[in-house]
Amino acid sequence: MSEPRRIVVGMTGASGVAYGIRALELLAAEPDVVTHLVVTAAARITVGLETSRSIDEVEALADVVHPIRDISAGPASGSFPTSGMLVAPCSIRALSAIAHSHSADLLTRAADVTLKERRPLVLMVRETPLHLGHLRLMATVTEIGGVIFPPVPAFYEQPVDLEDLVTGTTARALAQLGMEVPGLGRWEGPGESPAPGLAGGLPSQARTANPGQKV
Ligand SMILES: Cc1cc2nc3c(=O)[nH]c(=O)nc-3n(C[C@H](O)[C@H](O)[C@H](O)COP(=O)(O)O)c2cc1C
Repeated sequence: MSEPRRIVVGMTGASGVAYGIRALELLAAEPDVVTHLVVTAAARITVGLETSRSIDEVEALADVVHPIRDISAGPASGSFPTSGMLVAPCSIRALSAIAHSHSADLLTRAADVTLKERRPLVLMVRETPLHLGHLRLMATVTEIGGVIFPPVPAFYEQPVDLEDLVTGTTARALAQLGMEVPGLGRWEGPGESPAPGLAGGLPSQARTANPGQKV
């Protein structure tokens, strides 16, 4: 039997906490994936401001939850094997800390470890507009091996609602980690994509993780 794949998911206080939540739901539908979640203090606030979920409900979507201050947790060490890390959403503060290896909390330490171990690190950086300093931070992270993945929707997938839009963008980010969500995140050519209503292709577990609940 193959080893389960560990994916570290970081959630910060940038707008778009729905992307992190959807990533956890999509990964929960993958039987061979174990998610390790780290949530910043600011993300705890934006979960309350941007969603109808409690932070407990969000954390329940992960297999393992690590306190942000626990720099002794597994993801803080390179000898803890993972298949990569997704930060969704990623604040400019976290982007800056990662760009400078300023690993003052578990999220930024885990990201730095991911980079030094040459594992995939995907940052769903969310801010607009961007000044030159932001762009330089993104360039730095790209130079040291990270993937800057702003949550920019692809409208050729014809999302019918916000849930579709969030799901499509999140699936594309997960594809950067080698996680292919069937029917999502790929353009197969005209007439062969799952649009319109791409979320119709979601695994049933992900669709029903919180029935009736909006992000
Ligand atoms: C509702 C709300 C939306 C925010 N949106 C963003 C954003 O899109 N991008 C960003 O970089 N910061 C945003 N912030 C500010 C961050 O939460 C703040 O910089 C925080 O210190 C980030 O800390 P963290 O990286 O530890 O989560 C937002 C804050 C609030 C309350």
